[in-house]
Amino acid sequence: METKTIHLQDVKVDGEIVIPGDKSISHRAIMLGSIVTGKTTAENFLTGEDCLNTAQIFRELGVKIEIAGTDVIIESEGIQKWQSPKVPLDCGNSGTTARLLLGILAGSPITATIIGDQYLSKRPMDRVVLPLHNMGAHIMSEREELVLPLTVQGRALRPIEYTPPVASAQVKSAILFAGLQASGTTVVHELSKTRDHTERMLEQFNFQIEERDLTVSIKGGQRGEATHVVVPGDISSAAFFIVAALIAKAGTMTLKKVGLNETRTGILDVVEAMGGRVEIINRSTSVGEPYGDLIITASQLMGTTIEDEALMPRLIDELPIIALLATQASGKTIIRNASELRVKETDRITAVASQLNALGANIEELEDGMIIHGPTSLRGGVIDSYGDHRIGMMGAIAALVADGPIEVKDTACIAISYPQFFKHLDKVTQSSLQ
Ligand code: S3P
Repeated sequence: METKTIHLQDVKVDGEIVIPGDKSISHRAIMLGSIVTGKTTAENFLTGEDCLNTAQIFRELGVKIEIAGTDVIIESEGIQKWQSPKVPLDCGNSGTTARLLLGILAGSPITATIIGDQYLSKRPMDRVVLPLHNMGAHIMSEREELVLPLTVQGRALRPIEYTPPVASAQVKSAILFAGLQASGTTVVHELSKTRDHTERMLEQFNFQIEERDLTVSIKGGQRGEATHVVVPGDISSAAFFIVAALIAKAGTMTLKKVGLNETRTGILDVVEAMGGRVEIINRSTSVGEPYGDLIITASQLMGTTIEDEALMPRLIDELPIIALLATQASGKTIIRNASELRVKETDRITAVASQLNALGANIEELEDGMIIHGPTSLRGGVIDSYGDHRIGMMGAIAALVADGPIEVKDTACIAISYPQFFKHLDKVTQSSLQ
């Protein structure tokens, strides 16, 4: 198991980072580029392990995919020409790959078995399998619970009108993708608006969809068109450096080309409520997705309450690093209505509380969140990532406010979403406080 010891006492956080491509958008570029007929190109694709797994899966289905640096070329004869794979489709650690793939394959002409790593194989798949069954999908589990491995036998689907019981972009996207192959109009109503990259990209690929408030509808039988996709930087990756710059003892840092889709920017609202200084410049939009540069300055922070159901999906992946931020803020930070954290790559409530408390933080675990009492000074020590990329990166950033080095156990997982993370951390922590 790969372990890294991080010494970041008495350093400033400054300089500039170009944030790598967005994971959610990169997955969807491969998926839609494979569904349509023709040649799709993507730039600034994230070459993290999750997205590389997605690319490999579509190659197994017969799609030609070439990745050179962060440029991708996808050449497909369209979903109707896919071939059943000779091997199981391995999603690795990626919940997005597994859940969206279930929706895509449900109405396709192929049969395939979907597998994942030890962590993904424990995560719930019923949230997509049950609505897909309502559409007439044939998805079989080897075990009693609806978890991977799952075998999908593609067949004709009927449309549904569905309200997922959890606010989940993965569930919404799986149903919309299945809806593309169904014999009428499929409608998804959301409890709270979740990330809408699927909808934006469907439009980019010339599929007609209808969106009104919390409802999205899609008509089956559309063919779409190959296109060019520009992937903005991933705000979920930027989050680690936003927090690094805010909790550092000094410095100002610039993060370039960060995606600013408002279904993802909850962290910026929370940082503002906590008194953090973040300025956005050079705002622009590329191929349907807004982005800009962030300038972040070390700040005095105060606690806040994060419990609004509409806010939760806008920052769900950022809550571990927000929890670290809150340990450095004065007063209480309350996080509630976040029980989804328990079914992410690991149980992120237990992982965050146990790992940061071991360094001297004061975090109470709640069934659906945590209460963080700040400010607390942290000690050097050990953080176990539990194989979860976002817990590993949180541990490394904690080294900025700990009084000694932090040893992060199992760092290989960080390549799932941010292969350049340690290189970037090194780059912005070169100047000392003196
Ligand atoms: C994702 C949606 C979110 C998020 C995940 C990526 C996506 O999951 O946590 O990291 O790309 O659609 P849920 O939609 O299940 O909340």
